[in-house]
Amino acid sequence: TTYENIQVETKGRVGIVRLNRPKALNALCAALIVDLGHALDAFEADPGVGCIVLTGSDKAFAAGADIKEMKEKSYQDVFLQDFITVGWEKVSQVRKPIVAAVAGYALGGGCEMAMMCDFIIAADNARFGQPEITLGTIPGAGGTQRLPRFIGKAKAMDLVLTGRMMDAAEAERCGLVSRIVPLDKLMDEAIAAAEKIASMSLPATMVAKEAVNQAFETPLATGIRFERRTFHATFAFDDRVEGMNAFADKRKAAWKHR
Ligand code: HXC
Repeated sequence: TTYENIQVETKGRVGIVRLNRPKALNALCAALIVDLGHALDAFEADPGVGCIVLTGSDKAFAAGADIKEMKEKSYQDVFLQDFITVGWEKVSQVRKPIVAAVAGYALGGGCEMAMMCDFIIAADNARFGQPEITLGTIPGAGGTQRLPRFIGKAKAMDLVLTGRMMDAAEAERCGLVSRIVPLDKLMDEAIAAAEKIASMSLPATMVAKEAVNQAFETPLATGIRFERRTFHATFAFDDRVEGMNAFADKRKAAWKHR
C-alpha cells in the first residue's frame, strides 16, 4: 500500500513506518494520523512482523500536531471530534513492540507520539519539547501525564511551563530516551534493536510489553500481582517450553511463534 503522508516498508521481521511530510517538518495532520493508523493495523495483522519502528526524517521526527489545521477549530469541533483521541491512541495501543527512532525535532504531539512508543532511540541531533504553552494551549496527547511519569515532575514542569527544547544528551540523562546514536547510525541501530526483539517469541514480547506498561497504570502491589500471573501464564506458551529446553540442551531456541 502507498500512503500520502507516510512511507512503509518491511525489513525482515521489522515493519518500518516513516512519517513523511517534509514541507511541514512532519506536522501530524489528520490525514497523516489516518495513514499511520492503517499502517499500524496492517503490521499488527501481519504474522511476518515482530516489531515496528516509527521514525521521521533527519530534520524532524514530528514538529507537533498541525497548527495550521488546529487554528480554525472551535471548542465544539475539538469536543465533538474528541480531537487527538481517535487515531493517535492507536500508537499506544499497538500490542507488538514499537520503537521510536527520533532525529531532529520531536515537539508537542511529536514528543507525545514518541512517548507512546515502547522506547525511544535518539539521534544526537534530536530535540524534545512541549512548546504548546507558547501557542496558548497545553499538551493534549498525553504530554502532561507521560512526561512526569518518565522524567519526573521537575523536568516535566520545566519543559511544559517554559516550552523550551531539550537536546538528546539531556533527554538521555533524564531517562526519556534509552540510547543516543550518531544521526547516520540511527536507522541501523533502531532496526538492529527491532530485529533482536522480533527474533524472540512474539507472545513473550507481547506480554512483556503489557507487563511493563502496567507499571504506569497501577499501584506496585497490583502491578506485581499482574506480573506474577502473567509470568505464570507464560508457562502455557509452547515457546516457553522450547526456550527452557533449548537452554538445557545447549542449543538455540527454535521459536514456533515469531
Ligand atoms: C504546522 C508546521 C509545524 C506544525 C512546522 N511547520 N511545524 N506546520 N504545524 N506544528 C511548518 C512551518 O509552518 C513551515 O511551513 C515549515 O514547516 C518549516 O518550518 P519552519 O518554522 O520554517 O522551520 P524552522 O525555522 O527550522 O523551525 C523549526 C521549528 C518550528 C522550531 C520546529 O517549525 C516550530 O516552532 N514549529 C512549531 C512547533 C510547535 O509549536 N509544536 C507544537 C504544536 S502543538 P511554511 O509553509 O511556512 O514553509 C501540538 C499540540 C499537541 O503539538 C496536542 C495534541 C496532539
